[in-house]
Amino acid sequence: MILRAISSVGIGLWLVLAPACAGDAPARSAAEIMDILMWNREPVGGPFELVDHTGHIRTERDFRGKLMLVYFGFTYCPDVCPTDLQAIGLAMDRLGSDADKVQPLFITVDPERDTPQHLADYVPLFHPRLIGLTGSLDAIHKAADAYKIYSAKVPLGKDSYTVDHTAFIYLMDRDGGYLGFFPPGTSADRMIEIIRPHLAR
Ligand code: NI
Repeated sequence: MILRAISSVGIGLWLVLAPACAGDAPARSAAEIMDILMWNREPVGGPFELVDHTGHIRTERDFRGKLMLVYFGFTYCPDVCPTDLQAIGLAMDRLGSDADKVQPLFITVDPERDTPQHLADYVPLFHPRLIGLTGSLDAIHKAADAYKIYSAKVPLGKDSYTVDHTAFIYLMDRDGGYLGFFPPGTSADRMIEIIRPHLAR
């Protein structure tokens, strides 16, 4: 599928997501969103109010003072999300004691299936400090819009669906400001190379 192609081929195929798929019509196309990110056309990030995998309400203000690694995906994602979450977990492990200064967040683009309970079974597979976030459709849409995430439900047969989504790992500074993004498939070591200088500041 599309997501599989992206994970194996990389950057060049992000734009393959551009044709609108059946299902929920996203507000903006993937191509538009890529332009915004690549050419810095609009701010990335901002306030959110979501529910974590332990059932507590969390806002972006809870993470002030730490760098944030923000990843949008969904737990039924067959390979891209697990691969990137594994890399995030590995980066956290390799940061050693500096990992305390970084907060990884996994925000679902599939809140209907990704309940807090469901996230509680999922996020610890990748790292004990990974926080899973879900919420109402509206709250998730707001967060996804703020982070310039493209996602669209795609029906799989009669009763099932998957979600096409952009899989960027955002790095945010201690005040919640946008520093940049890692493309899907970025290695843990590459993440650390970028993160470390920001920890020293
Ligand atoms: Ni995914």
